[in-house]
Amino acid sequence: MNNLPNIVYLNGSYLPVEEAQISVMDRGFLFGDSVYEVVPVFGNNLLRVDEHLTRLQNSLNRVSMVNPLNSKEWAEIFSQLLNKNQGEDRAIYLQVSRGAYPVRDLSIKENYPATVFAMILQVTPPDMEVVSAGISVITVDDFRWHACDIKSTSLIANVMLKQQARVANVEDAILIRKGMVTEGTASNVFLVKDGIILTPPTVHATGNQLLLPGITRDLVIEIAEKNTIVVQQREIKETELYSADEIWMTSSTREIAPVIRLNGEAVGVGMDAGVAGEMWKRVMDLYQQHKLLLRSSNEQ
Ligand code: PDD
Repeated sequence: MNNLPNIVYLNGSYLPVEEAQISVMDRGFLFGDSVYEVVPVFGNNLLRVDEHLTRLQNSLNRVSMVNPLNSKEWAEIFSQLLNKNQGEDRAIYLQVSRGAYPVRDLSIKENYPATVFAMILQVTPPDMEVVSAGISVITVDDFRWHACDIKSTSLIANVMLKQQARVANVEDAILIRKGMVTEGTASNVFLVKDGIILTPPTVHATGNQLLLPGITRDLVIEIAEKNTIVVQQREIKETELYSADEIWMTSSTREIAPVIRLNGEAVGVGMDAGVAGEMWKRVMDLYQQHKLLLRSSNEQ
């Protein structure tokens, strides 16, 4: 974040962030009973906003909350916020909580007004030199629940997992559940092996939802397939990480980050071990081209 004016949206009003206040009885605050989205914006164009609103609707449905706004109303808020908070690369953060009840009670009341909050995050455009230097990660045990498709603000598990990475002096962690790769603490995971891109499926064979279906994940798959690169969505064993040619982590704010060290060992084989790989360069380049197109048009 920088020092640009920060006007946020809260329950129908636009106001400076310091003046935006909610009740201490808000269920988002008391229980983490709320869901959120982060939508990247390049120039004035939103990346995949329809997909983000569809995922928001999925999160709301899953927790039995009614969407307080329709797509047109969301679009109006986004446009007002972008006008009030100028910048180049930005992201829209939005959050819907179940609102503030008079007493602390887990039970849900029907027809209670939600708390709706949105703000603009100023994003530093990726410096290719820094990004291509790659990141170091560790593997950690994914002790989260079976409903990871809900983009919930109950992120304490993710906070704890990220802290394990911090304590280990690395940027991030790849989460492992019963020997299988799920995702990152706030990103999805890709592997490259023998020219094929691999990523875990959004729904596990058991029907459990062990990862968030990332919008960047979908875009990366789409861009790769359009360019005749083979992508397989299948379960990935932790052991496959150690023989992968490349590992990437993707998210709306991080885009595609190459992982160059895993648990202290260089990722990849031979001369190319420990540096961002060729496939990453190719797909990252395609992703940047997609962004450039979006920046200069209204295409999503
Ligand atoms: N997080 N998995 C998790 C657990 C995430 O929190 C995120 C994104 C992703 C990637 O989703 P997408 O490509 O749609 O950004 C995967 C956002 C960026 C955040 O919490 O800030």
